[in-house]
Amino acid sequence: MAILQRLPAPDPKALEARGRAISDHFVTRMEPIINILEAKQIPGVRENTNDKTWLTDRNAKAEDSEFLSDAMKGRPSFLARIDDDFRALGRVIWDERAVSAAADLLLPLLDVSERTCFGYYGHQYRTMQYAEILLNKRSMSNRSMTDAEQAAQLLGALMHDIGKAAVPGEVLRIKGKLSDPEKELVNLHPSHGKSILLAAFASLAEAGTHIAYGDVIIDIAFSHHERYGDTGGYPLGIRGTEISVGARITGFCDAMDSMTTNRIYDRHPKTFKQAKIEAVRKLNKHFNGTIVVDFLRAAKTNEVTKIILDIIKSAGAMPEQAPQRDLIQSK
Ligand SMILES: [Fe+2]
Ligand SMILES: [Fe+2]
Repeated sequence: MAILQRLPAPDPKALEARGRAISDHFVTRMEPIINILEAKQIPGVRENTNDKTWLTDRNAKAEDSEFLSDAMKGRPSFLARIDDDFRALGRVIWDERAVSAAADLLLPLLDVSERTCFGYYGHQYRTMQYAEILLNKRSMSNRSMTDAEQAAQLLGALMHDIGKAAVPGEVLRIKGKLSDPEKELVNLHPSHGKSILLAAFASLAEAGTHIAYGDVIIDIAFSHHERYGDTGGYPLGIRGTEISVGARITGFCDAMDSMTTNRIYDRHPKTFKQAKIEAVRKLNKHFNGTIVVDFLRAAKTNEVTKIILDIIKSAGAMPEQAPQRDLIQSK
């Protein structure tokens, strides 16, 4: 069954107004969140939230401005979509008080990674959309999980790169190949993600709100870059069934989006056809074969192919690609 029952889109103007209110709310939430993270000694987060240098980034080029201004147009309504989906998934596993406490803390945290390097909202959101396609297919193939487990998987996919918030923005914004020390900094993001989520869930628990399935979400943030077939992944280099199903699912969906989208470090995305060939090439090497086969089988139906092509199309110049100029200027 579909976990996210998508309602017809509300009036675009209403959606945009709500997105702007959410954006303002993030700004007011930021300081207490940073204080929690500092108390738990998560390095880098404060620097990144105060970091506005990307506006005059040494890598920014004039040709980006048209792309970015196009991308900015729908950003508030995109924020409202993330907020809606987060709460809809949260309601499957948490009570209403926990949903609102978690949204209050975790959504602004997602915002920190978006500020660090625009594009992460979109990447994390699309990773979740791919995971949704895959989980629907798996439940039809009797490799089912409970609704609660599926909701936790999707929340994990939505937050998998939250640790990028603690990676220096100037490293994340480098276009092109990274040096080895730069790569090491980026590759710390799963460990940072685990630390950030542990700190967030601990502070919710201290305030009397236990977040069920928090361990599943943390594990996805921590293990989504491990490789199924060898020990070449990170941070631990574990393989096969040592990697949780959730981390394997998110790892594959993460790669599908990374291959097919216009990222700051790679403006030459693959087509869906090329990405499918790459997925098969890495079947049982990087990715769990069953997961790849489930996804490709799902993608064979016209309805799902259309959804996937829409997701890929949305990645080229969507709101999520835009820097949060409105949010930063309002400070
Ligand atoms: Fe990642
Ligand atoms: Fe990712």
